[in-house]
Amino acid sequence: MAEERSRSFKNIFFFHRLLYLFLVSQVAIASSRSTSVGVNWGTMASHQLPPENVVKMLKDNGFTKLKLFEADQNILDALIGSQIEVMIGIPNRLLKEVAQDPAVAGSWVEENVTAYSYHGGVNIKYIAVGNEPFLQTYNGTYVEFTLPALINIQRALEEANLKNVKVTVPFNADIYFSPESNPVPSAGDFRPELRDATIEIINFLYSHDSPFTVNIYPFLSLYGNAYFPVDFAFFDGTNKPLRDGSLVYNNVFDANLDTLICAMERYSFLGMKIIVGEVGWPTDGDKNANVKSAEKFNQGMVKHAMSGNGTPARKGVIMDVYLFSLIDEDAKSIAPGTFERHWGIFEFDGRPKYELDLSGKGNVGALVPVEDVNYLPKSWCVLDPNAYNLDDLADNIDYACSLSDCTALGYGSSCNHLTAVGNASYAFNMYYQMHDQNTWDCDFLGLGLITDENPSDENCEFPVMIDTGDSPRLQLGSSRMLSRVAATVLVILVLPLL
Ligand SMILES: *[C@@H]1O[C@H](CO)[C@@H](O)[C@H](O)[C@H]1NC(C)=O
Ligand SMILES: *[C@@H]1O[C@H](CO)[C@@H](O)[C@H](O)[C@H]1NC(C)=O
Ligand SMILES: *[C@@H]1O[C@H](CO)[C@@H](O)[C@H](O)[C@H]1NC(C)=O
Repeated sequence: MAEERSRSFKNIFFFHRLLYLFLVSQVAIASSRSTSVGVNWGTMASHQLPPENVVKMLKDNGFTKLKLFEADQNILDALIGSQIEVMIGIPNRLLKEVAQDPAVAGSWVEENVTAYSYHGGVNIKYIAVGNEPFLQTYNGTYVEFTLPALINIQRALEEANLKNVKVTVPFNADIYFSPESNPVPSAGDFRPELRDATIEIINFLYSHDSPFTVNIYPFLSLYGNAYFPVDFAFFDGTNKPLRDGSLVYNNVFDANLDTLICAMERYSFLGMKIIVGEVGWPTDGDKNANVKSAEKFNQGMVKHAMSGNGTPARKGVIMDVYLFSLIDEDAKSIAPGTFERHWGIFEFDGRPKYELDLSGKGNVGALVPVEDVNYLPKSWCVLDPNAYNLDDLADNIDYACSLSDCTALGYGSSCNHLTAVGNASYAFNMYYQMHDQNTWDCDFLGLGLITDENPSDENCEFPVMIDTGDSPRLQLGSSRMLSRVAATVLVILVLPLL
């Protein structure tokens, strides 16, 4: 594949001109077919809902596109016959092996794609090679393996005669930026230290008619910068738009996406198909994370994506967008922030958090929940009101929280208003629920008390965990490192607004 890499930019330019005309017509065809936005289904939860029930919910709600971070066999089995279009991820930890050995890529494709790609099987459309492999937080660990892994997977797909399955690499928006001296989308470029590696990957994708995938998080712009204009994170207009020549920006999503498009055009990749692999808004764990904002953002995003308006730099396209995410994940790493466990459109047990019209056409009506969910008994663990020696209370709270999920207790979160006693009860209950309500998991050196009285209030829910029977469970505390950084581009872009 050295040939791919050594092709001069002059040739690329010529070739791309032709491809551009071709792609523009492709986009038009693809657009008319897509019927809904997609959604990411992550599985870093202590208790998984039965995949069959979740797939039924996806169908009931009219989700037609799904993105998975792994080739989870239980989920793929549940998707057989569903027609839902699937993007399957290859996790970063597998990149090195896949890059170094074509046979590893071959067996990955064999077991995880070919095995499901029969008539009436699973509608696998994309393989996402790695997940944000160039993220700054990873210090370049995966940079050298990403392209070789991509090449090996592409070849394995060709050898398996899977011509309709396309490869891609989901990138974080931190691979591109606009300079502080000229903070507008048209000045967009790739981060200098990753420029060559990024362009090589784009070139490979481009020449295989495969899409580029980027994850964009306006929420993180707000989270990372107290002075960020809140209005600009949403889609319903702002009184101070950002001007870039003749183009006018009313939201940071468009400004960010166009920064990428302009960076690509700088290197003559014209009309490259772009997928937004993750975009969303969390509902808890931060002062800006709540149901109202999440509903407003996601509904605005869906409407905007499906409207066919496109962005100022690329008008008139329906955007290919995957919301992040489907269901809350209580075992996700909170290194980037406590909101990480609250991105779901649905609660951990499959109840929708808010209404969402997935067609973007103004259909009203609530989302359908996951049905037939089994719960553990209506039993909670609280701080015993008669406990008198509270010397060990703080230690016990710390212990309970470190092995469960107390992200709802923090500043700006749904349970932050609880008293010290309420805090203790919340921590005890989360530990008790996430450990399947064993009696001995509500001991806490005699401080815990099991009750059948629901301690929840209007804003703060003390959950009862779902009953997963004997199905395998994620080891608590072993959640993989998955961090996101607020792309500096977002912050820089809005400075002129302040
Ligand atoms: C298929 O994907 C799963 C999930 O990522 C992985 O654990 C497994 O090793 C893959 N199969 C092969 C043969 O590589
Ligand atoms: C990246 O480097 C920083 C600073 O040297 C270090 O603290 C961090 O653990 C590294 N992260 C990874 C994923 O290697
Ligand atoms: C409850 O816990 C949260 C998170 O640790 C803390 O911010 C809050 O101040 C606590 N409330 C009381 C009354 O101690």
